[in-house]
Amino acid sequence: PASGLIDRFGRRATDLRLSLIDKCNLRCTYCMPAQGLPWLAKERLLAAHEVRRLVRIGVEQLGIRELRLTGGEPLVRKDLEEIIAGIRADHPELPIGLTTNAIGLERRAADLRRAGLTRVNISMDSVHRETFAQLTRRDSLDAVLTGVHAAAEAGLTPLKINAVLVRGVNDHQAPELLSWALEAGFELRFIEQMPLEADRTWEREATVTAAETRRILGNQFRLEPSEEERGGAPAERFNVWTQNEAAAPALGTVGIIASVTEPFCAACTRTRITAEGRVMSCLFSRDEVDLMDLLRSGADDVALAQRWADAMWAKPAAHGTDRPGFDLPGFERPDRSMSAIGG
Ligand code: GTP
Ligand code: 5AD
Ligand code: SF4
Repeated sequence: PASGLIDRFGRRATDLRLSLIDKCNLRCTYCMPAQGLPWLAKERLLAAHEVRRLVRIGVEQLGIRELRLTGGEPLVRKDLEEIIAGIRADHPELPIGLTTNAIGLERRAADLRRAGLTRVNISMDSVHRETFAQLTRRDSLDAVLTGVHAAAEAGLTPLKINAVLVRGVNDHQAPELLSWALEAGFELRFIEQMPLEADRTWEREATVTAAETRRILGNQFRLEPSEEERGGAPAERFNVWTQNEAAAPALGTVGIIASVTEPFCAACTRTRITAEGRVMSCLFSRDEVDLMDLLRSGADDVALAQRWADAMWAKPAAHGTDRPGFDLPGFERPDRSMSAIGG
């Protein structure tokens, strides 16, 4: 039987990122086309009991120690509370995170917490209504902000905010976004844009890099690399001070996720399952391994665990290829956009 999710390069996947749905109610330009995508029919999505079973196999047989539920937008699933409660009943100690745009959290944060959700990471690229609407193609900043605060109040913490910087749109607002997050006590992470938008307009030169982000923030803040162990975490963390108060205690921290300029594939601890039940060994994997047919044809846990482990054994060294880099020969995009993988 399988003894954990190890690959040919000696990495061990202990974090499961499971996408619950491909649909989303925003249309972030770096992720989705304006018209949306052909959504999966409901019957093709993993059902609540199927999610529960896969998580149980992952934890009991394959060494999964942390779960993150993603989308599309996971709050679009009406049975999200039920899904989380089922997983929590099986695993009282498992950390369960949710990556969400926060629309609808105002109403559901407390119930999600009661169901057993541990914490949330919220995507929010701007505190300006017009800029937010330009990036997401929806005028939804108010709904997001009330969702963010409801999540904090419900204790879904530490609460992280994810922001993708897009040149000429929100890059100059980075310090302002950081001030907002520090004041509220949230951990902000800036993410370099990766070639995962359905429109296929990504260019290496247009990416707002980690170095640039540090420079922009440097106009207003002093950053010092955090001493904390990073492990397989995608974000490099910095302690933050305002420029003229360096002696005082730090105001908080900021993270930078440099997937493009400083890839962290060698330390990757992630395994992914898509909303229709396929294993992706890497965010950029072009080979997907189906678990749904086994789930729905009465296969036993051992067969499911074995197929999952085999898929992870084939995990590529980096970015779906042998070397990290989105502008190198050999790199081919996955067939999916970010919304259909879950980030
Ligand atoms: P934490 O446990 O809070 O650190 O969660 P996380 O940062 O792993 O999860 P989140 O869903 O908030 O992801 C933030 C971003 O990290 C994603 O949008 C991706 O841009 C990036 N990321 C996560 N996993 C990978 C990965 O395997 N490869 C690359 N290149 N980027 C990743
Ligand atoms: N590059 C980097 N991050 C992206 N996200 C969505 N599309 C991209 C992309 N092309 C981020 C969102 C969200 C997370 C799940 O993925 O901001 O926080
Ligand atoms: Fe929706 Fe997230 Fe994609 Fe934005 S990045 S369109 S919130 S799935």
